[in-house]
Amino acid sequence: MFTLPALPFSYKDLQPFLSKEQVRIHYELHHAGYYRQLNQLISEDTPNQLSLDDIIINIDTRNQSIYNNVCQAWNHNLFWQCLSPSGGGEPGGELKKALIETFGNVEKFKSKFEFAAINHFGSGWCWLVYDKSGKIEIQTTSNADCPMSDRVTPLMTLDLWEHAYLYPPHMTKVDYVTRFWSKINWRFIEAKYQRVLENKG
Ligand SMILES: [Fe+2]
Repeated sequence: MFTLPALPFSYKDLQPFLSKEQVRIHYELHHAGYYRQLNQLISEDTPNQLSLDDIIINIDTRNQSIYNNVCQAWNHNLFWQCLSPSGGGEPGGELKKALIETFGNVEKFKSKFEFAAINHFGSGWCWLVYDKSGKIEIQTTSNADCPMSDRVTPLMTLDLWEHAYLYPPHMTKVDYVTRFWSKINWRFIEAKYQRVLENKG
C-alpha cells in the first residue's frame, strides 16, 4: 500500500498564485484519488519495498491503469515539492549555470518553458529534465506520462491538467503558467540537480 505524502505547506500558503480551495481540491480530490486508485489496482502481494519510482521504471506499460495512477501519484509529489510559500526569486548554484549554458539566460529558459507549457495540447505535464546525454532540457508529456519511464530524470514539473487551474477562482492557462514562477521552489530544484550531478559523476 502506498501512502499519500503530506503537502509540504498548508492549503493557503501558495496564495495569490493558487487559492486555498484550489490547492485543497487538487490535493484531496485529485492527488489523493490517484493514490486510492493505485492501491486498489496493485495486488496485495506487491512487495512492500517497491517504490513508485521502481514501478514507473520497470512496469509493463501495457498495464495502463496502474501505469497512469502510479505516474500521476509520483508527478504530483514532484509538483508540490517544486512549489514553496517562500518561493520565487532566482535559481542559483549549478542549476543556474546549466540554465545559462543551455538557454542563454534564466529569462530565456522561463520563456521557453512557458511556451512549451502553454502550447501543450490537452492534459499533461511540462518538465525540466536531465537527459541521457547529461544535458538539461524542457519536455512536455501527455496525460500521466512521466519522463522517468524513458530513463530521463525529472528536475521540476508543472501540472498542465485543467484541474490545476480551472477551479474557482478560475484562471486562464496563460495566467497559471506565467504566475508559477512566483512560488517556484528553486532551492528544492537546485538540490535535486546537485544530487543528479553527484550520482552521475
Ligand atoms: Fe493535478
